[in-house]
Amino acid sequence: MRSIEFTLNGKPFTARVDDHLSLMAVLREQAGLISPKNGCAPQGSCGCCTVLVNGRALSSCVVPAHKAEGANIVTLEGLEPHERDIFARAFAVTGGLQCGFCIPGIVVAAKHLIDHNPEPTRRQIAEALNNHVCRCTGYVKIVDAIDLAARGLRGEPMPEPDYSGKIGSNLPRQDAEALVLGERPFVDDMRIEGVLYGAFLFSPKPRILLRRIDASEAVRVPGVVRVVTARDVPGERYQGLLSRDWPIFVAEGETTHCIGDILAGVVAASERAAREAVSLIRLDYDELPGVFSPDDALKPEAPRVHAGHENLLSRSEIRRGDVDAALAASAVVETRTFETQRIEHAFLEPESAVAVPGGYALEVFSQGQGVFDDRRQIASILGVTEDKVHVTLVANGGAFGGKEDLSIQGQVALMAALTDRSVKATLSREESIRLHPKRHPMRLTYTVGCDGDGRLTALRARIVGDKGAFASVGAKVLERAAGHAAGPYKVPAVDIESLAVYTNNLPCGAMRGFGANQSAFAIESMLDILAERVGIDAWEIRWRNALDAGDTFCTGQVLERPVGLKQTLLAVKEAYYASPRAGIACGIKNVGIGNGVPEHGQAVLEVGVGGHVTIHTGFTEMGQGFFTAMIQCLCDIIGIDPQMVHTAVDTDYPTPCGMTTASRATVLGGRAVQDAARKLQMDLEGGARL
Ligand code: FES
Repeated sequence: MRSIEFTLNGKPFTARVDDHLSLMAVLREQAGLISPKNGCAPQGSCGCCTVLVNGRALSSCVVPAHKAEGANIVTLEGLEPHERDIFARAFAVTGGLQCGFCIPGIVVAAKHLIDHNPEPTRRQIAEALNNHVCRCTGYVKIVDAIDLAARGLRGEPMPEPDYSGKIGSNLPRQDAEALVLGERPFVDDMRIEGVLYGAFLFSPKPRILLRRIDASEAVRVPGVVRVVTARDVPGERYQGLLSRDWPIFVAEGETTHCIGDILAGVVAASERAAREAVSLIRLDYDELPGVFSPDDALKPEAPRVHAGHENLLSRSEIRRGDVDAALAASAVVETRTFETQRIEHAFLEPESAVAVPGGYALEVFSQGQGVFDDRRQIASILGVTEDKVHVTLVANGGAFGGKEDLSIQGQVALMAALTDRSVKATLSREESIRLHPKRHPMRLTYTVGCDGDGRLTALRARIVGDKGAFASVGAKVLERAAGHAAGPYKVPAVDIESLAVYTNNLPCGAMRGFGANQSAFAIESMLDILAERVGIDAWEIRWRNALDAGDTFCTGQVLERPVGLKQTLLAVKEAYYASPRAGIACGIKNVGIGNGVPEHGQAVLEVGVGGHVTIHTGFTEMGQGFFTAMIQCLCDIIGIDPQMVHTAVDTDYPTPCGMTTASRATVLGGRAVQDAARKLQMDLEGGARL
């Protein structure tokens, strides 16, 4: 390592560098700046770590630190105060951010653009974002925000944020300005005195018989504190949300399930030492043949992904009416097979966890989608009661279902417990993709009949989902695919079977839509095919079959109220017929966990000094605006200034609510906050004061 000097945000800075250290690492770890976010280092593909280097906007993770010698580096922290205010205000009032992880890098790119072109067009703004990825917003509002910021920087008046707090008002998302400026820490931004760092060794092949782990070289790396393996787990090594089939470490003598299996971990004084030590762990193993498609996995002679369990994880069936007779009597019958692909969530914040040993409990900072499920599993791993583990949510940088399962919280908690030191670990982008569950690839074979007018008569569907290596919530995803197989249409007779099949591929689990999307693709495609056969258009066949009050949904549930589909179809009818190229598709999705599971949300309102109120819930903020919605639910009833309201999610408060999935948190959490707010309002009317 050698010293170099450069100017950082207008002041001289001395960095310790070598040939491998990136500028991003120096800025984050030596300068202590957190506005450059690490989304993909060292790929330079997401733009989250963008800074200005001699006036050029560059991804700092691909700039070798030693090349910054003598350079002028500007990060978001170094912008002029009035520029920071304008960018923060512009993104807040336009809703130009959701999770906020990508925004600091985007603001630097916007600053670079506006410095060179004070009146950029929307197209020029979009082109300036070519090196940036946002997985939440869809970019339109980001362009709005940059357009507004450019106007503000030209001296035009900026709109005032709407802090009325009412439901339906345009309340800026909670912490918007701090997120825009990169000041609100994500887990990897947390700085803890004396923290150790964790890194992990993954299985080199999908299916190996792991004979021996040799860490003798790894422990000699300077700074290494401990190597951790399966034999160090005092409690239950196998975890999972619904089935305990996912080992936090695979043990010697066991067979791996996929390349996402973790075999060992290293705790060291620096992340670099931990990763170097991981690279020096030697494995003795036999590579075994695996199964990589559901068809192969279901063959009688197929190797079992999990010893002691057949490769068929679950079978969901829905049967109503006489499908054979209905198809035989149909004017038109068509059969098609559809295949959907495995999809990665690509949330921009990779998995990260921090664990801090404490007096009465181990404190874990999690970005997961359910802190109470995190706590249950971590306590089980450590072999302690749940009151010995305290999990605090750090609102995450995108999840989309991919952070429902434990990622590395369990291993990091174990490392902290074993060393009695605070431990942090953050996955690289490659490791993140390797570890967390994906959207299920499915093969859907549909036979659908209709009468001569295009009215559906029967549906037979056979759905097979590639579950990958671990159950996660996959059985429920395939159950959901079955339940939504007929889409939002009346089908008098259905015969649906949906299988979740283990393979040695990466695991699959929750992702936006939770199985309904794949079915929607199949049934909507079938409707287009049938419409063509009977000679009507795509809008008309949907209108003739649309569910309405009193109709029976695919699962047999009778709809008690109108579901809005017919109104929606009428609303788009003119636009559909006005365009010769228009296509049309409908969708239906349950709210909450569904499948008969009782649903509940919980909230505690804590009145603090000076009229501040904190909303405690068990749900997760992951960019969807949950906290902001809860603040509106409260303010709408008691009329408090939303800037006086705070939110907190941790296991110290008795608010277990299950997973945060889709709109579930907003619906259930919102009802809970409203109920609590009404009680608070009654207290206030009775003379209590905030
Ligand atoms: Fe852009 Fe979440 S707001 S990734």
